[in-house]
Amino acid sequence: MVYPSFDLSGKVAMVTGASKGIGRSIALTLANAGADIIATARNEEELKELVSEIKGKGKNAIYIPADLNNTEDAVKMANKALEIFGRIDILVNNAGVSFPQPALEVTEEAWDTTMNVNIKSLFFITQVVGKKMIEHKKGKIINISSQAGIVGIEDHSAYCTSKGGLILLTKVLAIEWGKYGININAVAPTVILTPMGEKAWSDPEKRAKMLEQIPLGRFGYPEDVSGTVLFLASSASDLITGAVIPVDGGYTAR
Ligand SMILES: NC(=O)c1ccc[n+]([C@@H]2O[C@H](COP(=O)([O-])OP(=O)(O)OC[C@H]3O[C@@H](n4cnc5c(N)ncnc54)[C@H](O)[C@@H]3O)[C@@H](O)[C@H]2O)c1
Repeated sequence: MVYPSFDLSGKVAMVTGASKGIGRSIALTLANAGADIIATARNEEELKELVSEIKGKGKNAIYIPADLNNTEDAVKMANKALEIFGRIDILVNNAGVSFPQPALEVTEEAWDTTMNVNIKSLFFITQVVGKKMIEHKKGKIINISSQAGIVGIEDHSAYCTSKGGLILLTKVLAIEWGKYGININAVAPTVILTPMGEKAWSDPEKRAKMLEQIPLGRFGYPEDVSGTVLFLASSASDLITGAVIPVDGGYTAR
């Protein structure tokens, strides 16, 4: 009997949006569990700093900058990562953007950027990496959705559309790729105290109203999300696919 373990030694993990917030915590958590890390985002300086922090802990990491608002750039980045490592065992699709505004004020540019980063580039990165995982008949894909992908939240029309779409994409790929030994799941956090979370919930009245609706009575820390990602990246979750795990203090339990 081999007992379940969170050990990721010998695995290669790619994390998008790794430069700050939740993605940074995911990269450090997976590295701490033993994985080699490919960190990607736009900000080269922040990525460099992350990679040297991981290397300082005696683990292996590289960074590849890419702008996910440009799908061609995103696909190039995924192909480059595969060229360097030959395979990716764990893909964490974390990069995301949010431009909170009433539906009547949403511009085409804000809509397109939200879709490009949160869903279109994510899909085509997953297609590139998925093909390689299929060759190896194994892989773990974790999509960072949101509570806003499960329930509607005012002033988040484009964001909710992208994150709800991501949950259904997760389910479709789980059905299509299960036969290749690939697990694909989504995580749906509540407000997490990162640059994005702070910006979106800076209005004290809206912030208090949101907090009131969270049964556990607090917003999340990046580590609340990276712990769940670690579980989904590890062999402890081998029979879980197509699932959505809310990390929302009970917000969507109502
Ligand atoms: N913070 C929250 O309250 C919250 C709640 C639920 C879900 N999420 C989701 O979690 C994920 C991470 O969010 P966060 O709070 O850490 O956000 P953040 O703004 O702190 O960090 C976002 C990350 O995505 C990257 N990114 C953004 N646009 C990009 C682009 N065009 N090209 C490449 N990379 C890009 C950034 O470089 C950064 O590394 C997102 O998908 C977000 O939607 C966040």
